[in-house]
Amino acid sequence: MRRPEPARPCDAAGRGSHLVRGAFLAAAVGGCAGPQSALDPAGPYARSIATHWWAMLAVGALVFLAVLTLFAWAIWRAPRARPLDEPPAESGDDDATARAKTRAVGVGVGVAGLVLVGVLAHSVLVAAETATRPDEAEADVEVVGHQWWWEVRYLHAEPSRHVTAANELHLPVGRPVRVRLRAGDVIHSFWVPNLQGKIDMIPGRENTLRLLADRPGEWRGQCAEYCGLQHARMAFAVVAHPPAEYAAWRAREARPAVAPTDSLARAGAAVFLRAQCAYCHTVRGTPAAGSVGPDLTHVASRRTLAAGILPNTTGHRGGWILDPQSLKPGAHMPPTPLAGPELRALLAYLETLR
Ligand code: CUA
Repeated sequence: MRRPEPARPCDAAGRGSHLVRGAFLAAAVGGCAGPQSALDPAGPYARSIATHWWAMLAVGALVFLAVLTLFAWAIWRAPRARPLDEPPAESGDDDATARAKTRAVGVGVGVAGLVLVGVLAHSVLVAAETATRPDEAEADVEVVGHQWWWEVRYLHAEPSRHVTAANELHLPVGRPVRVRLRAGDVIHSFWVPNLQGKIDMIPGRENTLRLLADRPGEWRGQCAEYCGLQHARMAFAVVAHPPAEYAAWRAREARPAVAPTDSLARAGAAVFLRAQCAYCHTVRGTPAAGSVGPDLTHVASRRTLAAGILPNTTGHRGGWILDPQSLKPGAHMPPTPLAGPELRALLAYLETLR
């Protein structure tokens, strides 16, 4: 018995339109969707920007088609080429032709001007929609760009209750968050394409940006201004939680580190203080209070190491500690030569920092 033919998505007559639709779909799914795409918006501000982008694409495509059509028409209407030995005809437009040409140029300039003014007006509206208004933000976060990582501080009305973390930005779903942006060294640019447009972080100045995610999810932010050797590898994770989960996350993040009970981890805590780690890093609840590198109080609960370049596993932590320069050349973390037992103890300690 013959097996039934597989269902065909299209017949011969409909193939062309299916191909076109398929190409658009492939572009939409493959090129536009994803955790770092301005065309896959996860909140109202990014949605306004994406709509503006699609509108500009549509207007640009229409203008392009119109220009090509006029171009083809001009070629079709052009007089037959003159043989080389034929002298040029005495030219000179009559008045009617000259007026028609002037009118055509005028209409062309007018239409181009209208299109540009229309696009500009829409862009001004989008900018107004996405701008930060101080009264409506419910939560405040400060992000400081460093070569080449992100310091993220969750602000509280009481300064002693600020919570500092790194390379991850956690947000409550459905609540606008005002992000205050500063730079610790050179100019960086803060960009979470799925949630908002980008804005520069400039030394000596504070810029603000509103973020609002309307669904839970995880996205990728990226530095968008060349800031030195590792600019391309200066990423961060953005995680939007339902409000209750966000509150729980924040409460957990606010806690100081729990002193390890296990003997290996306790030895590791001593290594952390004895080796150079504590000069640059803070672990809240311990004497380690360095402020040059990321706060490590809950480092083991983060998604990645070194601003998005490595999975946060014990093995990668070990490799990073021993030789960060081979993984991220130019990073400000120096190598830490440790003997095997010291490294094992240190890694056991870091694993407790959840
Ligand atoms: Cu920071 Cu580019």
